[in-house]
Amino acid sequence: MKTQTLTPDRAGFDCAAALLGEGQLVAFPTETVYGLGGDARDDMAVARIFEAKGRPRFNPLIVHVPSVDVAKQYVTWNDDADRLASAFWPGPMTLVLPLKPNSGLSTLVTADLPTLAIRVPEHTVAKKLLETFGGPVAAPSANPSGKISPTSAAHVTAGLSGRIAAILDGGPCGVGLESTILGLSDTPTLLRPGGLPSEAIEAALGAPLARHHTGDPLTAPGQMTSHYAPGAPMRLNATDLHENEMLLGFGSVDATLNLSPAGDLIEAAANLFGYLHKMDALEPETIAVSPIPDHGLGRAINDRLRRAAAPRP
Ligand code: TXA
Ligand code: MG
Repeated sequence: MKTQTLTPDRAGFDCAAALLGEGQLVAFPTETVYGLGGDARDDMAVARIFEAKGRPRFNPLIVHVPSVDVAKQYVTWNDDADRLASAFWPGPMTLVLPLKPNSGLSTLVTADLPTLAIRVPEHTVAKKLLETFGGPVAAPSANPSGKISPTSAAHVTAGLSGRIAAILDGGPCGVGLESTILGLSDTPTLLRPGGLPSEAIEAALGAPLARHHTGDPLTAPGQMTSHYAPGAPMRLNATDLHENEMLLGFGSVDATLNLSPAGDLIEAAANLFGYLHKMDALEPETIAVSPIPDHGLGRAINDRLRRAAAPRP
């Protein structure tokens, strides 16, 4: 794939929005760091984000929207959210709130969690892109997994050129640090320190923030072993089918549901959570799962399958 560099003018925004509409990926500047954007409603687009970054896990992603009103369409709002959004949005702050049912977002965006991380960015190029596109944009930092977050278009090119459709070049990022992430589902909690100092947040809330102490707080919620495990036990790497089993297939096998008959890992990732839920609804005694190649997105898929198959507490 040849990665286009787009300038932030009318033609550039139109092109970027059209690419997003086709499920392609566009890197764009925010005031914190460059984000790797994809349509948050499109499973294939979100799967491509994980593929392009080479992420070995399906961490939940931040969804970017143009306004507080749009944010309220996706999450259940509360007083703390109101106070903080009035004080700091648009800006380098992400709020984690309960995801509304029927949000229309890809289950991959939230890694199937019941909460959503959402933010209204301040950068004029990010705002203009969100307005032109007219939909929610999922965007992790636009760097390959494990590398430093990019604060210029050149950083993005160095890391992701050839792996994404376009880069919208809006110059260097002002803040240069990722957004501060706050959990607001109950007691306001600092999940990740970032571009907005916690003192400012505590002043606006009129109360101290709780801190998260367990390792990497941001990947933890999506990685709990029991999370999203289906009701039935699972047998992975199944090359045959036992009695009373239903097969979640991959590749050219006869299966109850097939993650990707063509053996395409991006398609399989896009279908993963939805199909686990569908299999569950069929109430099989055991879910057998075809072997998934352990490279590229296959590693993230296998990571999730192993968690889903882990012994239940
Ligand atoms: O400044 C930023 O926040 C940049 C720009 C592009 O907006 N984005 C960014 O995204 O840093 P990313 O994917 O690199 O980091 C998002 C973090 C991850 O550590 C993820 O685990 C956490 O947000 N996160 C997302 N959804 C969550 C949720 N529902 N609960 C807890 N943590 C969540
Ligand atoms: Mg990152």
